[in-house]
Amino acid sequence: MAHDASQNVFQGRKVALGICGGIAAYKAAEVLRGLQKAGCVVRVAMTARACEFIQPLTFRALSGEHVIVDDYAPDNPDPIAHITFSQTVELLIIAPATANILGKFANGIADDFLTSTYLASTAPVLIAPAMNSSMWEHPATQRNVERLKADGVFFIEPDDGEMACGTIGPGRLSEPERIVAAALDILQTTNTDVLQALAGEKLLITVGATREALDPVRFLSNNSSGRMGFAIAEAARKRGAEVHVIAGSTTADAPAGVAVTRAFSAAEMHAAVMNELPEATIFIGAAAVADYRPAQSARQKIKKSDAEITIKLERTQDILADVAAVNRGDLLVIGFAAETENVLANAREKLVRKNLDAVIANDVTREGAGFDALTNEVIVISRDKDTPIHVPLMPKTNVANIILDEIVRLRAARENLANLTTDERRKKA
Ligand code: CTP
Repeated sequence: MAHDASQNVFQGRKVALGICGGIAAYKAAEVLRGLQKAGCVVRVAMTARACEFIQPLTFRALSGEHVIVDDYAPDNPDPIAHITFSQTVELLIIAPATANILGKFANGIADDFLTSTYLASTAPVLIAPAMNSSMWEHPATQRNVERLKADGVFFIEPDDGEMACGTIGPGRLSEPERIVAAALDILQTTNTDVLQALAGEKLLITVGATREALDPVRFLSNNSSGRMGFAIAEAARKRGAEVHVIAGSTTADAPAGVAVTRAFSAAEMHAAVMNELPEATIFIGAAAVADYRPAQSARQKIKKSDAEITIKLERTQDILADVAAVNRGDLLVIGFAAETENVLANAREKLVRKNLDAVIANDVTREGAGFDALTNEVIVISRDKDTPIHVPLMPKTNVANIILDEIVRLRAARENLANLTTDERRKKA
């Protein structure tokens, strides 16, 4: 399905949420809310056992739709709900999934609404299991999981931890935030066109915080985790790009399958970027690079005394602006703008001043957005478009995919422009 890149890609996407009987059933409400916040329309189906843990009314109130438990129930408005329901959704999520439902799905048993829906649906399926550790580790459950994975079902493995029954081990439902992120990721990338969209591109991206030394043991830095940049790197690799990350200090884990070069100070990062730039077709400045560094870095550790000390700071080089300045013409250059006020205006000004193709602006004062958070809320402003894309609060993985959708569009627009005759180009200008 094609989606207009100028609006949120999740707006109106149809997701079915199946809930099974387990203590974790209440967490499905948070999964539902997370999906709705991203823009999805969610319909809920529950097994009869799930209704013993949480009332369908809760989900009816949250989703604004009839919750289907039994399609033969007299109050069900649709007599063949398992067919209509399953064929109108773009993704089926089961959270929490019990050992029982895994067994039924794996063996094609369809003895209630949810199991019939699973069989009747051609949409991708994401399962988040939750059960007692022994049940999870039982060979029968593991066999069913393997069979379902072979059938193409996506899994969010349960977490380790203390369960309602008091045992400690694997089996706790994964965090709702992670389930939502995985669900949105599937909605963004199940299309094979999307997965090939960056094939042939070489992405060079800066990530994390820089460190500017005061002496051999102290430095000036910031609390960038590197999570947003790594999420972009990973999503770009999944779409076929060759990715080289130049990383400062990070607390998030680097993804697999991408080259990582460490460069801690702004000067080292600048040198590493310039070294790799001739190879790149896309540059993204996602690092929080220091604008100033101590004018002098002491060779020996600075000893304390009662006297005040003054640190003189000098400017660092602007990596992003320097990359844009040496642009050969086919390189796409994208920057970030961390703002605390007048977000849109300041970011636009940065886009023009640094000569960028797009800028990703975030208001770092917003809760859940910015530096150390798992989620982010951004505005994507492109040079060739008047209307920016407002990306609501969602996991950074999914924000990354929206940024990449825009990069794919920018590349296509650049190629179209290159194919125009000189005359046509003049008219456009
Ligand atoms: N950046 C860079 N090198 C620097 C400083 C910033 O490459 N020495 C890049 C960042 O990676 C980011 C963008 O520039 O992509 C925006 O950085 P930011 O600090 O928000 O903006 P500045 O242009 O430095 O402006 P100001 O600090 O005044 O907001």
